[in-house]
Amino acid sequence: MLRILRILLNTIVISAFFYLPFLEAKPPHIIFILADDLGWNDVGFHGSEIKTPNLDRMSKSGVQLDNYYVQPLCTPSRNQLMTGKYQIHTGMQHQIIWPCQPYCVPLDEKLLPEHLKEAGYATHMVGKWHLGMYRRECMPTRRGFDSYFGYLAEAEDYFTHQRCYHISELNLTRCALDLREGEEVASGYTGTYSTHLFTQKAIDLIGQHDPTKPLFLYLALQAVHAPLQVPERYTAPYSFIKDPHRRLYAGKVSAMDEAVGNLTEALMTHDLWNNTVLIFSSDNGAQTLMGGSNWPLRGRKWSLWEGGVRAVGFVNSPLLEKPGTTSRELIHITDWLPTLLKLAGGSTKGIRTLDGFDVWRTISKGMSSPRLEILHNIDPLYVDIPPCSSDPGLTLPPESAQRPQSVVSRFNHSDGFDVHIHAAIRYREWKLLTGYPGCPLWFPRPGSVSGPQPSHWCPTPKAAIRLYNVVQDPEERDEVSALNPKMVDFLLRRLQHYQRNAKPIVFPDDDPKCDPGPKEAWGPWA
Ligand SMILES: *[C@@H]1O[C@H](CO)[C@@H](O)[C@H](O)[C@H]1NC(C)=O
Ligand SMILES: *[C@@H]1O[C@H](CO)[C@@H](O)[C@H](O)[C@H]1NC(C)=O
Ligand SMILES: *[C@@H]1O[C@H](CO)[C@@H](O)[C@H](O)[C@H]1NC(C)=O
Ligand SMILES: *[C@@H]1O[C@H](CO)[C@@H](O)[C@H](O)[C@H]1NC(C)=O
Repeated sequence: MLRILRILLNTIVISAFFYLPFLEAKPPHIIFILADDLGWNDVGFHGSEIKTPNLDRMSKSGVQLDNYYVQPLCTPSRNQLMTGKYQIHTGMQHQIIWPCQPYCVPLDEKLLPEHLKEAGYATHMVGKWHLGMYRRECMPTRRGFDSYFGYLAEAEDYFTHQRCYHISELNLTRCALDLREGEEVASGYTGTYSTHLFTQKAIDLIGQHDPTKPLFLYLALQAVHAPLQVPERYTAPYSFIKDPHRRLYAGKVSAMDEAVGNLTEALMTHDLWNNTVLIFSSDNGAQTLMGGSNWPLRGRKWSLWEGGVRAVGFVNSPLLEKPGTTSRELIHITDWLPTLLKLAGGSTKGIRTLDGFDVWRTISKGMSSPRLEILHNIDPLYVDIPPCSSDPGLTLPPESAQRPQSVVSRFNHSDGFDVHIHAAIRYREWKLLTGYPGCPLWFPRPGSVSGPQPSHWCPTPKAAIRLYNVVQDPEERDEVSALNPKMVDFLLRRLQHYQRNAKPIVFPDDDPKCDPGPKEAWGPWA
């Protein structure tokens, strides 16, 4: 009996000693700013002609993430941020959630804000959800956020907050509001530019927040996704840009940069800053058809080339131990969930098939990353959207607001990985791509006249297997599979392993019951 007591006592003393430093530090406020479709070459600190003084200053005085990866599309990146899992582990390998599709991130997944809420955080979200909305149970307020203000689908008008979508089953293009406060439709914001609207809502939350409680604020900006809309004052400094798409896009980026500046100022004014970790990230590469640029990286949004998945990102915080540095360590968007949970004093125990790593010491202290590999994706349903110069659903003309149809892969090899499948995997410096990776062009630096222009027809490459050393060759110009057969073999076996353990893909047909009618807003219908 006494012995047991002594052991117990010892355990308590040891664990108290061990945990004391963590108990003393108050969990930090976490501000996560997600930009939409912001490209590699669209920020000043990557050498862009677009001016981003706030982002430049914050990335320079924080830790720049130079080897940081996300998914090539909106829903997948957001899904992975919220679950810490690869797409194959949620059944959401394919495309994005279109407005009338009756599914959402599986309801048995516990999302980041739910975890943080359990750790004692106040949790707020402003902006784009895009993780499913057909049932109320899918909405942000039912998935861990104390409050929500924003839009549920993937794109809309920046001023009217309306989304036009062609419901093919009804042969009808419906334009309706998509804006909510909590679960209720938020009307009365017509004419307010969303970058201003969302920033103000986020600043209001910061102002109302009780500083003794840790805050998680997820600001998922509409900027800088299509359509090309921005108040004129933001495009005025860009009269030197000849391409009208690029000029408007630059204005959108400037407004976003101002938003980040305003938000940071609010954190300081309200005395939250000295215990804040602020993360800025893009959700995928830029859409070159809509003014964005990933130069000198290859490809763009919707592709597994570096231009689609290598992202702009940085962390700024007074808690960083090596501020003013650049991290070249491999980091992936799934890493935020375990990293932030650890900072919050929460636990990842009990999360099945977690794909993320805690990378705080990598970011804060410059230690090497625990991550050696990234599964970029495996999507057997991927088809090119011909011609790949049209990007359905993402521009506002109603006739192009219809989602592309998918076909099931014709190939079904039982021995080894089927190399006709759209897939990519990274291991250390090596990246293997199979199937058609998406638009393979190198779009020239904006303003340059030589090279394929953004509307160029994308050729379909013949090769089914491609290997690149993306550290030596970040532009993916030298295909080296023939020189490295062992690495190809190894990576194909890794892909096969992942594919064997993949969840079946969920990608239902549109449900015509989604139609909000002429007076209502997009939102849950089931
Ligand atoms: C869909 O509606 C348009 C006009 O709104 C009509 O021209 C077209 O024939 C219709 N298509 C089908 C398949 O009913
Ligand atoms: C930032 O704050 C200034 C001053 O209050 C304001 O004029 C501007 O519209 C704000 N910008 C954004 C993007 O919210
Ligand atoms: C942060 O600011 C608050 C309020 O000004 C202060 O009480 C606290 O000690 C500061 N914390 C740190 C780590 O500087
Ligand atoms: C593909 O292979 C799986 C497992 O071997 C099998 O169940 C399925 O029927 C096959 N599909 C086609 C289209 O041949």
